[in-house]
Amino acid sequence: MSERVAGDAESWVKKAITFYKASGKRIALAEFMDPDGQFVQDEMYIYVLNPKGTMLAHGGNEKFMGEEFIEVKDYDGKSFIKKIVQIANTEGSGWVDYKWYHPVTGQVLPKTVYFEKVDDLIICSGDYKEFSKGVALLHDPMLNKGTAFTETDRDALKLHGLLPPHVQTQEEQALRVMSNFQKKPNDLERYIQLVGLQDRNETLFYHVVMNNIEEMMPIIYTPTVGKACQEYGHLFRRPRGLYLSMNDKGKIAEILMNWPYKDVRVIVVTDGERILGLGDLGAFGMGIPIGKLSLYTACAGIHPSYTLPVLLDVGTENEALLNDPLYTGISQRRARGKAYDKFFAEFVRAVHKVFPKALIQLEDFANINAFRLLHEYKNRTCIFDDDIQGTAAVTLAGVYSALRITKGQLRDQTLLFLGAGEAGIGIGNLIVSALIDEGMSKGEALKRCWFMDSKGLVVKSRKDLVEHKLNYAHNHPFCPDLMMSIQSLKPTALIGASGMPKSFTQQAVEAMTKLNERPIILALSNPTSKAECTAEEAYTWSNGRAIFASGSPFPPVTYHDQTFVPGQGNNVYIFPGVGLGVIACEAKYVTDHMFLTAAKSLASQVLESDLVQGRIFPSLKRIQEVSAVIATAVAEVAYKDGLAHKKRPADLLAYIKSQMYKPVYQNYI
Ligand code: NAI
Repeated sequence: MSERVAGDAESWVKKAITFYKASGKRIALAEFMDPDGQFVQDEMYIYVLNPKGTMLAHGGNEKFMGEEFIEVKDYDGKSFIKKIVQIANTEGSGWVDYKWYHPVTGQVLPKTVYFEKVDDLIICSGDYKEFSKGVALLHDPMLNKGTAFTETDRDALKLHGLLPPHVQTQEEQALRVMSNFQKKPNDLERYIQLVGLQDRNETLFYHVVMNNIEEMMPIIYTPTVGKACQEYGHLFRRPRGLYLSMNDKGKIAEILMNWPYKDVRVIVVTDGERILGLGDLGAFGMGIPIGKLSLYTACAGIHPSYTLPVLLDVGTENEALLNDPLYTGISQRRARGKAYDKFFAEFVRAVHKVFPKALIQLEDFANINAFRLLHEYKNRTCIFDDDIQGTAAVTLAGVYSALRITKGQLRDQTLLFLGAGEAGIGIGNLIVSALIDEGMSKGEALKRCWFMDSKGLVVKSRKDLVEHKLNYAHNHPFCPDLMMSIQSLKPTALIGASGMPKSFTQQAVEAMTKLNERPIILALSNPTSKAECTAEEAYTWSNGRAIFASGSPFPPVTYHDQTFVPGQGNNVYIFPGVGLGVIACEAKYVTDHMFLTAAKSLASQVLESDLVQGRIFPSLKRIQEVSAVIATAVAEVAYKDGLAHKKRPADLLAYIKSQMYKPVYQNYI
């Protein structure tokens, strides 16, 4: 936040006028708009109106340039621009008060603008007048520093007496958090501790999470978040995120406006129908968008105030929840068909209206809705489905890395998928795109991928296949089980996305090892209890030859003196980087080309030292660096494909890195 003091707006405007007089209109207006220029600093910037209220330059948002602002109202509906124009045209300069959201904290705060008319320009700059103080400040998780408020802070912000006298450093606070974390009896208790911290002090929460990412990831996300969702209403302490229920039909935009942060850039939304591999958890699914968005911040430095978790409560089919007095959602059966579609369409429209720059990530929708919604909206709005596209990209990256070990080519692989749902088919589709990109025909590319579902091998003769499986229904005799499919197809890679634990049997892994020097075995089903096989099983049954990765983490395995570090095919390697890239260039859509590029970028960042240990994904310790590089590659695609709204900075990677959130306390005074 700024080191500037109240009253700066006037000197800021005067400085701008001096610059304008020395450089002329064209250069001055360009300089006022330059995010790296001398007139944009934290929440301070210059905006310039003409005498009719048209925006000629805006240092906070270049898209406002050329817009008619005369009718623009502030947060309370006050026509403050009209007032500025009127005073400037009659008196030449003045001050006007209004309420606006703070670009750094997202708080709506009273602001006062100073303006002066020079020639045909009204040059304006605003100061935020108030900042939360006292107890209100301690209760604002985005601003609270707890015991780390300094003596000077405590003097200026009316905090004396409200905190114990000893001032701690952020490191000391982090030490306390970690020592309590280690003392907790189980992971669910650790989850509760961390969520509590996030609710009190987001900066400290992210400081701890980002500095201990390998230890924290399984707590704030899979597998612990799954357990937390199962008991969400029972663990409920403080609401977080936005709930939109079927009862809110017609009022969704209004409800989105209740969200306290006004510059939302990433929304993760679920309807709770297919939470991880755990099924329909209805409104208890809220833990998932919250967890995913924490990862956006922790892994790609997206400012917490840019993130909005949303739970669409359309009911549940989960009998236990319907009968649970502590259920937090609406106790009714799921809306389906037209009612559901209308509700979702209203949600998308409302997001466009209230948060026009937001990227929407669909999360844990059941596949009856996921494929459909993605198909319907992906060419109309900035949206993607992480279960389909994120999983696909991370898995493709894993396959590319595995091929660095086997020295093979993607076009020569035969991939057998156990599970033909969102994850499996999504992976298949991206692999097909990658093969087409390499020059293969679509027909040939589809034949590299084979699918099994709960009824057996997906083949042409089957009459029970749903739409999304049809592309992969090849002309081949039907095989009812995995062993027969392996023997008949001789795959080089086995990819598990079935949610069926233990389905990669010893016999299956041995058969894969007989067929391949280094079989690729990916057991992606989450949580850990659902994995198709464990890391230890894959390495032991293949005599240490399997190239293995899983969806949930497994500890290293020592087999015959060699230690293998199993990679985690966690979408977290992809979605934060993709999201960061999309919002950095303000991309119009999220395309398959972006995911393909993200997968290649991720695979290229796996080090030789990782591969030697059998790890086909980078260490999580490098995740922020990895995400920045992926974001750059993704934004580059948007620029090349003409999908970026924002002007390309000269050094894209440096720009993206400069935008990333750092969990250090800001100076408020
Ligand atoms: P889904 O419900 O859309 O699909 C499951 C598929 O498995 C269906 O095609 C079903 O017919 C098939 N299946 C069920 N029992 C089977 C059996 N005994 N043999 C063969 N096929 C069987 O679920 P979705 O979204 O595709 O997720 C599947 C699993 O993948 C889940 O456990 C999920 O946690 C995991 N997943 C992992 C990710 C990762 O590691 N990065 C990301 C997304 C999902």
